Amino acid sequence: MKKHLFTSERIIFCELRTEDYIDILNLRKNTHVRKYLWWPVDEWSFDLQFREMLDTQELEIYFILRNKQDQKFIWILCVTKYHWSEDYELSYEINPDFWWKGYASEWCKKVLEYAFWSLWLAEIYAETQEKNIASIRLLEKLGFTKKDRLIRFDEWQGVYFLEK
Ligand SMILES: CC(C)(COP(=O)(O)OP(=O)(O)OC[C@H]1O[C@@H](n2cnc3c(N)ncnc32)[C@H](O)[C@@H]1OP(=O)(O)O)[C@@H](O)C(=O)NCCC(=O)NCCS
Repeated sequence: MKKHLFTSERIIFCELRTEDYIDILNLRKNTHVRKYLWWPVDEWSFDLQFREMLDTQELEIYFILRNKQDQKFIWILCVTKYHWSEDYELSYEINPDFWWKGYASEWCKKVLEYAFWSLWLAEIYAETQEKNIASIRLLEKLGFTKKDRLIRFDEWQGVYFLEK
């Protein structure tokens, strides 16, 4: 059974469960959230994505963040295999109602601590479109440095890296 991993003052960090299907589908359909993300969100392809998300490999983990008070779904944040390599990457999608409040910085820090001290990762990658200023600012604030740039999904992407 999936469990609560930890809590902060206002937020519960949980592992992904089948019951999260609709909340994540709705988040992924949101045009603001999708602006710099490449994957399609029709119901059929989402079904497949969601099954893959439940079937995590090795140290992969999806954190679902909910408001402690009303259990409202806020965010999905994950540590997953970095494009089928041996490395892991951090990624994040927040409900726009919660943008610009410093939450991403606060919660990503907690997940990075978990990745370094509970999953024992020595380093973690992040890849983001060079147009995605919010994501780049967030990564810089978390201490990531730009290591490379490449074209993926027809867009320039920055490759960022953080050591434990
Ligand atoms: C990227 C994302 C998680 C940032 O969330 P957030 O909660 O607004 O981030 P924070 O409030 O912690 O802000 C982090 C920093 O980025 C800055 N920032 C946030 N949004 C910004 C924007 N649109 N333009 C410029 N700077 C921005 C903040 O000012 C802050 O920097 P500062 O402390 O120096 O002022 C959110 O915009 C999101 O979910 N986007 C859609 C999904 C996505 O693109 N994910 C990335 C996939 S690689």
